[in-house]
Amino acid sequence: MKFYSLSLLAAICIWTARAQQPSAVPVYLDDSQPIEKRIDDALSRMTTEEKVAICHAQSKFSSAGVKRLGIPEVWTSDGPHGIRPEVQWDKWSQAGWTNDSCVAFPALTCLAATWNPAMSLAYGHAIGEEARYRNKSVLLGPGVNICRTPLNGRNFEYMGEDPYLSSKMVVPYVQGVQSNGVASCVKHYALNNQEINRHYTNVIVDERALYEIYLPAFKAAVTEGNTWTIMGSYNLYRNQHACTNQYLLNDILKGEWQFDGAVVSDWGGVHETDQAITNGMDMEFGSWTDGLHHSKNHAYENYFLANPYLKKLASGEADIATLNDKARRVLRLIFRTAMNRNRPYGSLCSDEHYATARQIGNEGIVLLKNNGHLLPIQLTDTRKILVVGENAIKMMTVGGGSSSLKAQHEISPLQGIQDLVGSQAEVVYARGYVGDTNGDYNGVTTGQNLSDKRTARQLADEAIAAARQADIVIFFGGLNKSKHQDCEDADRLSLQLPYGQDSLITALQEANSHLVVVNISGSGVAMPWVKKVPAILQAWYLGSEAGHSIADILFGKCNPSGKLPVTFPARLEDVGAHALGEYPGVERTDGSQIFDEKYNEGIYVGYRWFDKQHIAPLFAFGHGLSYTTFRFGKATANKKIMTTDSDITFSIDVTNTGKCAGAEVVQLYISDKKCSVDRPEKELKGFQKIHLAPGETKTVQLTINKDALSFFDTQSHQWIAEPGTFTAHIGAASNDIKSSIDFILE
Ligand code: GLC
Repeated sequence: MKFYSLSLLAAICIWTARAQQPSAVPVYLDDSQPIEKRIDDALSRMTTEEKVAICHAQSKFSSAGVKRLGIPEVWTSDGPHGIRPEVQWDKWSQAGWTNDSCVAFPALTCLAATWNPAMSLAYGHAIGEEARYRNKSVLLGPGVNICRTPLNGRNFEYMGEDPYLSSKMVVPYVQGVQSNGVASCVKHYALNNQEINRHYTNVIVDERALYEIYLPAFKAAVTEGNTWTIMGSYNLYRNQHACTNQYLLNDILKGEWQFDGAVVSDWGGVHETDQAITNGMDMEFGSWTDGLHHSKNHAYENYFLANPYLKKLASGEADIATLNDKARRVLRLIFRTAMNRNRPYGSLCSDEHYATARQIGNEGIVLLKNNGHLLPIQLTDTRKILVVGENAIKMMTVGGGSSSLKAQHEISPLQGIQDLVGSQAEVVYARGYVGDTNGDYNGVTTGQNLSDKRTARQLADEAIAAARQADIVIFFGGLNKSKHQDCEDADRLSLQLPYGQDSLITALQEANSHLVVVNISGSGVAMPWVKKVPAILQAWYLGSEAGHSIADILFGKCNPSGKLPVTFPARLEDVGAHALGEYPGVERTDGSQIFDEKYNEGIYVGYRWFDKQHIAPLFAFGHGLSYTTFRFGKATANKKIMTTDSDITFSIDVTNTGKCAGAEVVQLYISDKKCSVDRPEKELKGFQKIHLAPGETKTVQLTINKDALSFFDTQSHQWIAEPGTFTAHIGAASNDIKSSIDFILE
């Protein structure tokens, strides 16, 4: 007993001594402390120089930490579709690492085309795991700029033309990425809707279109997704660069939306110190000095938020309170990421990530047309398959700008078809045309030699002759990631397919009517042959598993369920931005090199314009077929009259009336029958993707509240739903409404 009590007494003494000893761990390093307390403590320990240092780049893709305090650096990485290979400290060129190959996930237009937020969550989680494994704290994506013109070179990186669809698809992506302790960086905020003159275009857009069309996806990413960073864009708005814009950054983002994260500049998007200090910029990135011009004299120290900022602080021209706010936001980012000891460890190139990429591709491919049920191809009665086109073999994960990747592998469409068909049929390939033989981006090379000595005539003749001998012809065309196609820093020059594809497609169809055209692009293309070609697939850029996804759909291993997130116009002049707009902008005559561009179509972007003008699109927003058929019942509502503080729920039965399982996207559009302002004929305000077995019926319920009835009133600067009669349209596409029902807002 004596021994026992002595040891207990000793234990109590030690415990008491420890409890009284001040914690050896400073608050900012103590995980048990709330982040805001840790920030206060860290800030109190930092010098002015250290606070300024964390507000600008120290290298191409990193900003400084605080060495002395053990606060880590912030490492960022492109991009929205996969983790960019490592580049040199100061240059875009490759660092030459051999451990930085990645999974290339499908481009975000494909993700949007799934109309399935669960796919966004899976996407964000997987790409976030890759970023985490590569020790990146910020993923420079996703992009959610609205597709205002099909010519925009970066449409493939974004989520389409509709603010509601983009809003619903971006939130889970952000949450998925950040579940890894990696910040998403939603871009490019805001109004970066073209690549031509992207550094010099001053966008002039009415406030209603700004709030109803161009801001919603960013607002959702901030207020619902809680994105930890956001990237300012290159263009100007109200004559201020978006990266240093009082209205966009301070009034809206940090004011109205209460954004608590850090604003990251696009690379070289900051042009002036005073505005960078006062107008909400927190982390200035770029390459060399002001991000645009090459100078080796202490490049990063010459940044606008570097030595020039320090000078203004020293002279009293800049106040320490503003600096503290910037430093707080950067520290909050660091505590949420690099100093979050509870975050997972990530993974790279895992089977799960490849499976996610393939599933998103399978769900995002859109069956545009399938006359005579040419698809799915039945191998039981197919002996010879001819595959034609450069896009059947060309790697698409290299090029296109900052989203370019060093994929661990990329299955081409031809390879995917060969893998699936095996010895069940003969697969023959004909190039058909030569487009872009380049295979190098910033030193990442595809390893493909696409050069070809044959003339265009020889290539076409060879393909046409082979078509006559085949049971079915599959043509892979569309665009690629070269300049003036789906590529950053330049726009497309027309809606037409390049490289003479249209005449080749027409000739192939004449040679063999069993022709499938698979279009690979980031937005709509003209299809003058659309009436002659029985089957058309929109296959987007699908990344590492491209060939497997396309083959899964072509041969019916997967039933297509994608729906267009953008309108495919028949002609460029059918698009609001080109019918009314000043695209690409009018250069000022004051030598400033600035282009003013009025968005004259206002809120009438995409299907909103086609509805208003009663123009028939080539293929409509929300369009997508299936290998099965669906029957929609009659829409009902749980009430006839709703109030501004209540919901209303619409129900509709959907039955799979075909022979194979499939998925349908039930879409809800709302019309305001009478309003004090002009409103679109209808606007997407709800959707749900449902999977049905043959013969199965499900009741789909879509609930909305007054937000879905509101327009942005620029006088009162708030959203308003005017009482009156509204109509709910429920359908399988914006031009395929199955049932409508009126209801009243009291
Ligand atoms: C580029 C792009 C941006 C990218 C950044 C870093 O100019 O506009 O999307 O994340 O610079 O590469």
